[in-house]
Amino acid sequence: MRKNCFVHSMQSYNMTVMTEVQTEIVEGCRVPVLLKNGDGWHFAEILGKKEVNGKHMFYIHYEDFNKRLDEWVPEERMDMNKLEPPRKDQKTPKKEAASKLGSGPGSRPSSPEREIVIVNGNSSTNKKAPIVNRKRPRPEEDILLDEAVPPEKKPRQTGSMVAHNDDIVTRMKNVELIELGQNRIKPWYFSPYPQELTSASIVYICEYCLKYVKSKKCLERHLSKCLLKHPPGNEIYRKGHISFFEIDGRKNKAYAQNLCLLAKLFLDHKTLYYDTDPFLFYCMCEIDIKGYHIVGYFSKEKESSEDYNVACILSLPPYQRKGYGKLLIEFSYELSKCEGKTGSPEKPLSDLGLLSYRSYWSQTILEILIGLKPTEGNETPIITINEISELTSIKKEDVISTLQHLNLINYYKGQYIVTLAKEHMDTHNKALQKRKIRIDSKCLHWQPKDWSKRGKW
Ligand code: ACO
Ligand code: ZN
Repeated sequence: MRKNCFVHSMQSYNMTVMTEVQTEIVEGCRVPVLLKNGDGWHFAEILGKKEVNGKHMFYIHYEDFNKRLDEWVPEERMDMNKLEPPRKDQKTPKKEAASKLGSGPGSRPSSPEREIVIVNGNSSTNKKAPIVNRKRPRPEEDILLDEAVPPEKKPRQTGSMVAHNDDIVTRMKNVELIELGQNRIKPWYFSPYPQELTSASIVYICEYCLKYVKSKKCLERHLSKCLLKHPPGNEIYRKGHISFFEIDGRKNKAYAQNLCLLAKLFLDHKTLYYDTDPFLFYCMCEIDIKGYHIVGYFSKEKESSEDYNVACILSLPPYQRKGYGKLLIEFSYELSKCEGKTGSPEKPLSDLGLLSYRSYWSQTILEILIGLKPTEGNETPIITINEISELTSIKKEDVISTLQHLNLINYYKGQYIVTLAKEHMDTHNKALQKRKIRIDSKCLHWQPKDWSKRGKW
């Protein structure tokens, strides 16, 4: 008989003997779970349990699915007869197979539509001096929040984010729903909001200053006093109904910390730091008569020794898949162009981050290749990887990986040849037509600062 919900009896059948074994339902057990839409069973790992009105609920992670699909499920949706004890061996994440430059077939494709020679070497136009970045010293108080769990009573402070290791607390979503302006949004992941808030069914967030409160009443009280109608900091871009604000993590600490807390609800592979000082935050807003409504943002180190031009990037879920992610990415490269530098997003990228960057890089590089004219005395246009990188501010490694991903690069008679078939151009043109909003560099009013010359950020 079952003594408590974490101990369950299971029928185990053998060809010859039938025995009843006791399997403890503990963290790490595997069990098939009926998917939400009733669309079949999928193996999941049990991460937690709770009792709601006398009913056992289990927090589960579907194997090979993204963590944002993790959820609480009742026992009825679990096939306990197939419950498996925790595995002893830990699964390692599958690494993307890396192909080598030029490792593709050496044969020349027949009747290509367009050929471009990629010269592997330094471009003569590479005149921009690299900006040397000082490595950021890690302040003493830069403690990972993971280490700070269990939480204190006071709201935990947040800042920038770094990759983290899962622990049992941060693996489970802790906020059920947030209300932000006109939108109610279901969080995807854990974020270290104060515990007294996470017990509320909805966390209410002021869409202008991002302050969080536990009830509608508190929010209304706050809104009657809140003076902001847009993010703090400077508006550095405006075109049509789209606007960007630059926020200094040192000057606007409270806002920066609230933004990181909010972002963490949708960013899995990052953990929060206390210190926002070394970061700038670029908030994208949609403007209407009521004010500036935050759509997404990216953060950026004031100085990056690894040439990162984005630390974290987010489109809020109600605004996703409308092209805003790519607009944020385009903006980040526009800033890099002003700095005369190439840049790359901080690793690791999330699944959606990789999709969005791949799509942006592909379109940007194809745009350049398709627009190339043959130089004098050559039938085929010639461009170097460095030149593509300089024109776009996309880091060289990302240019190469994109060309490989698109399977465009071939090795022929000692040279790398990019062959663009008509279908590449058609697909590219269709993709460009879908990209309705673009960044207009004329509308950017921004001067890069040399942070290394400033004593303190
Ligand atoms: N499924 C399949 N494809 C998707 C999805 C999805 N759920 N979401 C975006 N894409 C694809 C789009 O199809 C599009 O490609 P296409 O134009 O070639 O079709 C591309 O990704 C970009 O789409 P956008 O609409 O421009 O981007 P979106 O506004 O959805 O924002 C972002 C993308 C920022 C990654 C968003 O999904 C997000 O905020 N996710 C949660 C946070 C996150 O993962 N951030 C990136 C972390 S990495 C880092 O911070 C450096
Ligand atoms: Zn406010």
